[in-house]
Amino acid sequence: MRLDKYLSHIGIGTRTEVKKIVSENRVRVNEKVVNKPNINVNSNIDKVYLNNKLLEYKEFYYFILNKPQGVITATEDNTHKTVMDLLKCEDKNKNLSPVGRLDKDTEGLLILTNDGQLSHNLLSPKKHVSKTYYLKFVGNVVPDAIEKFKDGIEFKDGTRCLPAKLEFIDKDECLVTIEEGKFHQVKRMMHNIGGEVVYLKRIQFNNLKLPSDLNLGEYRELTNEELNLILNS
Ligand code: URA
Repeated sequence: MRLDKYLSHIGIGTRTEVKKIVSENRVRVNEKVVNKPNINVNSNIDKVYLNNKLLEYKEFYYFILNKPQGVITATEDNTHKTVMDLLKCEDKNKNLSPVGRLDKDTEGLLILTNDGQLSHNLLSPKKHVSKTYYLKFVGNVVPDAIEKFKDGIEFKDGTRCLPAKLEFIDKDECLVTIEEGKFHQVKRMMHNIGGEVVYLKRIQFNNLKLPSDLNLGEYRELTNEELNLILNS
């Protein structure tokens, strides 16, 4: 792989930026300072240093973010702050995308990755990957709400949801587990049974729970164990 591609993949900068960095003699491959961006490096064998700091190459990156309210789940937007704005510069450059979408006013577990295949698999309704939400609501829900969720809620436009799980924690608090990601799905499902969501937070993605020590707005790389919790149902 070309050195400039290697450097931009791991988030050092755009291709143009890394070309400049290389021309400034700040990059070393093994023992040799290099100043040409087009030389070949082998990510399995070669050791690449920037300003004498050893760089780590990974093909895929997996991050978990505790999304706060007020930011939108998009990679770029002209008017709104996006989840990408919460990332450090080097991570912004890693070509990450959010896996699925949380509404602007929804908090909680969001995965960011450059692994398109994994993202596709996690989002496909056919794969039945579960997502659990904690929510607060107002209103009086129908007595057979749990059964209605189990049967699969039908929206006014005729679309039907896959069977879902509704668990009450209190009279105005519950957990909802769904296996798909339709537009405003949880809010619309709750509306369908007579409840209006006033607070929504995703707390689990497949078997991965939102870590209690990850504060709103914080993010970090997933450990291998955590990644397995997403992959294996
Ligand atoms: N369902 C919703 O209604 N909103 C979200 O953000 C996620 C699921």
